[in-house]
Amino acid sequence: TVHDQKLTRGEGGELHQTAEDLGLEVMTTAQGGPVADDQNSLKIGPRGPVLMEDFHFREKMFHFDHERIPERVVHARGYGAHGFFETYKSLSKYTRADLFQREGERTPAFVRFSTVAGSKGSFDLARDVRGFAVKIYTKEGNWDLVGNNIPVFFIQDAIKFPDVIHAVKEDPDSAFPQAQSAHDTFWDFISLTPESMHMVMWQMSDRTIPRSFRFMEGFGVHTFRLVNAKNESTFVKFHWKPKLGLQSVLWNEAVKINGADPDFHRRDLWTAIQSGNFPEWELQVQLFDQAFADGFDFDILDPTKIIPEEVLPPIAIGRLVLDRMPDNFFAETEQVAFMTQNVPPGIDFSNDPLLQGRNFSYLDTQLKRLGSPNFTHLPINAPKCPFAHFQQDGHMAMRNPVGRINYQPNSFGEGPRESPSRGFVPFPEAEEGAKARFRAESFADHYSQARQFFISQTRGEQHHIANALTFELSKCKLPVIRERVVSHLLNIDEGLANRVAAALGIKTMPEPADAAVPTRQDLPPSPALSIVER
Ligand code: HEM
Repeated sequence: TVHDQKLTRGEGGELHQTAEDLGLEVMTTAQGGPVADDQNSLKIGPRGPVLMEDFHFREKMFHFDHERIPERVVHARGYGAHGFFETYKSLSKYTRADLFQREGERTPAFVRFSTVAGSKGSFDLARDVRGFAVKIYTKEGNWDLVGNNIPVFFIQDAIKFPDVIHAVKEDPDSAFPQAQSAHDTFWDFISLTPESMHMVMWQMSDRTIPRSFRFMEGFGVHTFRLVNAKNESTFVKFHWKPKLGLQSVLWNEAVKINGADPDFHRRDLWTAIQSGNFPEWELQVQLFDQAFADGFDFDILDPTKIIPEEVLPPIAIGRLVLDRMPDNFFAETEQVAFMTQNVPPGIDFSNDPLLQGRNFSYLDTQLKRLGSPNFTHLPINAPKCPFAHFQQDGHMAMRNPVGRINYQPNSFGEGPRESPSRGFVPFPEAEEGAKARFRAESFADHYSQARQFFISQTRGEQHHIANALTFELSKCKLPVIRERVVSHLLNIDEGLANRVAAALGIKTMPEPADAAVPTRQDLPPSPALSIVER
């Protein structure tokens, strides 16, 4: 509520709002000292110099000067909400993870949605992949499923991640996020990295201009493992399906919304949750074993591939409900630290080389971003189950082992100890081979699934893809890059390639790009796309 504010005139004639007049608590410094005047710095005479002695001024300014922390190196712009995950029925046949054992069990969760390329202050409806990061505070520690709204990724090996991000984000010289040259750099990288073609088809589709977070799917992308109490492993792909269904805006709507309301998506989530209209997603899984995986032409460790849902229908195993906005955006949404490495016993990694690299990157980046190895002491990152270890000290340490021994083994019978039966034990997959910088031959088909995605789209959606490719490539200055992209499109869908080439004014069609493995042509062709049709 807004009060009628009473102003008192101070000795110099300035207006004050005092604690006494308003019946409010007394303002203090961060050290607790009561403050008499927060409007005027300490001076010699009314027009004289300001004194260093003014500890209140210095503390106020010092704290303000340090308000910002580095934004995330990617996914800087995001919006989060609290909620819970509810297990539909026991999955004990497949996993020993405690959160999946009991029907109806609810586990607290926090979700952060994000764009990838833009900075913290960028607009919501950029054509971009959306992050869909979920932290579930299980009784066996935090499980972070750090996913996107697209089920595949641009690259197959984490070592390329700095390159793809450098190519897509602002140039170091111009600092334009969508400068002319940024289009060139992104499409240059993409056109030289054929493994990105499947993701590019999704990126140019309506998926990357979602109507709101509430209408988006989420995907864990990588193949993970579930491991049961008998130490049997099942491969798993995780998918979040929105109860409201999937919806996007049109490109010209996105452009207008960005101009009129750059906070469109966060406003939508805030308004929905504040009005009790809680968004919900179902967690669905595709479960399969090694024999099933061996039946595919592609490798289930390759993050540029999906397992078609027609071939292996996902099963719903629980739901995620978001029902509470954070009280403090900075403390919660900004400081939340998701890490793919956070898995409870019963959920394990596969050898996907992208996932393996991510497991290093997230912990590493959190130290830089949050500034202390004690970021798990922040309530948003702390587990909600009992925890005990021998870690101590470091910046902002709040949880030293006090009153007990801080090492092991010790002779005092104190402190926590390992539990081989309850603790995380990696699935003992047998590995052998030479040490080298391998690229698996089983990762070589870059076009079949790109084609499969394109032809699975409705005619209208295919037009949107063609329009998006034309629009984006029209910003690209170098003809050789445009032509190289078209040479890849020829391996995906000839009609699409022809339409984009014609719209870009490419007179002589390039040869199709070299493909290590022929594209599977047993997939039906798409109907021819007319250039005039929109
Ligand atoms: C954020 C690295 C691939 C989803 C981040 C951050 C880094 C990073 C450093 C910033 C984290 C922070 O400051 O809190 C990488 C690397 C990748 C990779 C090295 C590949 C090698 C992926 C993939 C996905 C993904 C494949 C989706 C499956 C996300 C999400 C966030 C994020 C959702 C934002 C988390 C949040 O909301 O705080 N990534 N990433 N990343 N990444 Fe990745």
